[in-house]
Amino acid sequence: MFIGISVVAVILLVAVCGLVYVGCARDNTPAPASVANRPSGKILTVVYSESKTKSTLTVAKWIQGYVGGDLAEIQPVTPYPESYAKVILVAKKELDSQTWPEIQPLPFDASEYDVIFVGTPVWFGTAAPPLRRFLADAKLAGKTVVPFCTHGGGGAGRTFAAVKIACPESTVLPGLALRGPNIIQRKMGRGSEVLSSAAHVAEWLESLKW
Ligand SMILES: Cc1cc2nc3c(=O)[nH]c(=O)nc-3n(C[C@H](O)[C@H](O)[C@H](O)COP(=O)(O)O)c2cc1C
Repeated sequence: MFIGISVVAVILLVAVCGLVYVGCARDNTPAPASVANRPSGKILTVVYSESKTKSTLTVAKWIQGYVGGDLAEIQPVTPYPESYAKVILVAKKELDSQTWPEIQPLPFDASEYDVIFVGTPVWFGTAAPPLRRFLADAKLAGKTVVPFCTHGGGGAGRTFAAVKIACPESTVLPGLALRGPNIIQRKMGRGSEVLSSAAHVAEWLESLKW
């Protein structure tokens, strides 16, 4: 009798582990295949991503997976505080005063590339200050700049307009805005069925007129 119950318990445990495993596998970021509509020339993806979820970095990696090229992550010289409440305060101050923080040198020189994807989380309806620092310093005149962003539900806001203003002599293509928390492919919010995924990135890339 005891042996019978133990066997049932083990079978149940294995079944539950299997379900959990399948569930996790479904949540994995899909490995992107390349898209047909790729730009010619050298491609660089530059991204700032702040939160622990690293949503914008995830999108950057999908872009790189689809179109190739190099990827560089912007790191502020002085990291933002650990606490969300404090990040909000610092970010608000920087955006209000249009003061962009120093960033660490990137491993690639953007001036040597033809197409530069630039990614940022949306902060107070616009591009985050570390990306603004990059845009202010990089020499992107004559290049094609392709913005993308992730947000918490408020959309891109003025993010792409800010990139355009910062790159007056570049060709700035239509940007992609994805809802950050959905990037990890979970259903978020009240009944939201719309998932952001690598497939959305592929669709957008295919629609761009290079
Ligand atoms: C300082 C700060 C300001 C934010 N402002 C907005 C906002 O205006 N609109 C919005 O939808 N999400 C806002 N968010 C949420 C982020 O845009 C969102 O979580 C994003 O996906 C994070 O990307 P990351 O993981 O690459 O940092 C803000 C987050 C922070 C930390």
